[in-house]
Amino acid sequence: MRKPLVMGNWKLNGSIDMAKNLVEGLRKELSTEAACDIAIAPPVVYLDFVKHQLGGSNIILGAQDVDVNLSGAYTGEVSATMLKEVGVTHVIIGHSERRTYHKESDEFIAKKFGILKESGLVPVLCIGETEAENEAGQTQSVCARQIDAVINALGVEAFNGAVIAYEPVWAIGTGKSATPAQAQAVHKFIRDHIAKQDAKVAEQVIIQYGGSVNDKNAAELFTQPDIDGALVGGASLKVDAFTAIVRAAE
Ligand code: G3P
Repeated sequence: MRKPLVMGNWKLNGSIDMAKNLVEGLRKELSTEAACDIAIAPPVVYLDFVKHQLGGSNIILGAQDVDVNLSGAYTGEVSATMLKEVGVTHVIIGHSERRTYHKESDEFIAKKFGILKESGLVPVLCIGETEAENEAGQTQSVCARQIDAVINALGVEAFNGAVIAYEPVWAIGTGKSATPAQAQAVHKFIRDHIAKQDAKVAEQVIIQYGGSVNDKNAAELFTQPDIDGALVGGASLKVDAFTAIVRAAE
């Protein structure tokens, strides 16, 4: 049985005050042992502060990105070792915003996947097609290509203990979520694609859905057999909405 993971990606949002209020609110609302894993990924500058705010809570600390190098002359970068030192366990990589604005390639993202595995951190690999690719019927080939970059570089076993977030780019921040049936079809395709290499690895890998998940649509998305929780953007900035999404996954 896979344990769903609901993860909040705060993106470039927040402040010390906001982080304090949000974490306090989540700790109050989600105090009991949840039947799903819960994670939050604040901006890197707030990680240490949020770690202290989390105290002994069962909420997992995540980061939004990592560099491919562990140390050296790479101005502005943050390494896996540094993230680990401040208590991060899960790291988002390959988000479509990084692929688009920072021109990150599948191969470069696979390197990040490798450095996280080497460092004992959990990669949360974002994949998904753009609207144009969706309309051109390329959803499956795009997802397969993004997954294969990791398999080719590291072998399918790299997905043991890892997380994939299927985030159709057209659904991110648009209020237009994929329907549960649409998302399930792609999630099943992703799992079957990995199963062609190794059925056991495919069976255990967590595949989250991301893209305009909110307190209204989460429950139905989570009824689908291959949807193991969500990667949440906008709705993760509100205690009520994020709490409702977590409860829907339990
Ligand atoms: O990583 C989460 C994300 O891209 C989805 O954002 O705001 O559509 O929930 P949002």
